[in-house]
Amino acid sequence: MKTLIKNGQIITAIDNYQADILVEDERVSVIGRKLEMEADVTIDAGGKLVIPGGIDPHTHMELPFGGTESSDDFRTGTIAAAHGGTTTIIDFAVQNKGQSLIAGLDRWHQKAEGKCAIDYGFHLITTELEDNQIEEMHTIMDEGVTSFKMFMAYPGVFLVDDATIFRAMSAAGERGGLICMHAENGIVINEIIKHALAKGHTAPKYHALTRPTGAEAEGVHRAIAIAEMAEAPVYIVHLSCADALNQIRQARDRGIPAFAETCPQYLFLSVDDYGEDFDGAKYVMTPPLREKANQSELWKGLKTDDLQVISTDHCPFCMKEQKELGRGDFTRIPNGAPGVEHRVPLIYNGGVVENRISLNRFVELTSTAAAKMFGLFPKKGTIAVGSDADIVIFDPDKEQTISAQTHHMNVDYSAYEGRKIRGVVETVLSRGSVVIDNSEFKGKAGSGHFLKRGTCVAI
Ligand code: URP
Ligand code: ZN
Ligand code: ZN
Repeated sequence: MKTLIKNGQIITAIDNYQADILVEDERVSVIGRKLEMEADVTIDAGGKLVIPGGIDPHTHMELPFGGTESSDDFRTGTIAAAHGGTTTIIDFAVQNKGQSLIAGLDRWHQKAEGKCAIDYGFHLITTELEDNQIEEMHTIMDEGVTSFKMFMAYPGVFLVDDATIFRAMSAAGERGGLICMHAENGIVINEIIKHALAKGHTAPKYHALTRPTGAEAEGVHRAIAIAEMAEAPVYIVHLSCADALNQIRQARDRGIPAFAETCPQYLFLSVDDYGEDFDGAKYVMTPPLREKANQSELWKGLKTDDLQVISTDHCPFCMKEQKELGRGDFTRIPNGAPGVEHRVPLIYNGGVVENRISLNRFVELTSTAAAKMFGLFPKKGTIAVGSDADIVIFDPDKEQTISAQTHHMNVDYSAYEGRKIRGVVETVLSRGSVVIDNSEFKGKAGSGHFLKRGTCVAI
């Protein structure tokens, strides 16, 4: 099967040029001007941007949380991702307390097997790691799961103590692995929550008001300090505010391998979105939405490379029957929001159209940097001879209005309802197969491969 993409403007993290691309056997085989090769399919990309498929390294499909389960499974979630120009996700498998690391990972393989429309990998949420489990951690890394998420938040569920974090960072770091940290002081936050509930503060907005930026900044500071002692790198997930970003900045200025991602919700939404009533449950996610002033600081961090990656933390729960569990008590609202479908066009609009970042940086933040960070480069994250033909043909001039009426995520609301943006994903190739054609899904659930990842090459 040969596919020829003609006349497009190819954008990678470093290049910007017009050329044709020949795709053969799932990979890019030739790039050149005015290619005249025979092909089974020819796609005219004239006037369009041709960019590497997006990589979203932070999703939660079918995640059990707060007495329910996130509403996208690996089929619906990966189809929605493809619609939005994302061709790889890295989802979070979970080792429950009392369970082996391998059992947690196996469970996520069962969930995803045969369901994904695009390629996928896993990180492993690690809730226990004693000395006698280090070998198991190394086995998991040999199986292509080279990053682990640990939580300083959610006491009694996911929270691990500093000793466990140190042990994990040392053990993963020894083999080039990476600890992804949910950095928020959950112990202090729980005390603040107790006081709020005692005062009868039960509406969704109190989720945000009980999780101060200081709790996040303290978590980031502590994560970096432990990583330094363990002589290992650290990657902060879903960084939401300037206070936390300053911790990363200071560490990076000292030459410490501290990395961080932020997410569209922290760039486009704010604490004002909670409002006064239960509708604010749509935005109950952790960390919460922050004061608007944080947004420009995060964009600055993205520009200066103090923030390296934009993920979504896609963790959807329907308002009906799921978010509703927390009516009358914000602590019972399942934490998370949908986002996997709109990350690429939102960042194009807010970043490139609004003149905050270059086209190259847009590609780097939505694809290349995650590929390097999580051991997928150059198979993924760029358009180059030999790379997987994960390619997005993107119309930079067309407009769209985001809405739950038209999105493909299995969730009954959009966090961006009614937002009009410039930039539309038109065609998407996943390893050479057209999965989105003129914004319609033409792929197959089950055609996505599990990706055995290598180690970070971003340092
Ligand atoms: O609210 C969120 N972020 N839910 C997903 C779990 C996590 O902490 O990433
Ligand atoms: Zn988290
Ligand atoms: Zn998450």
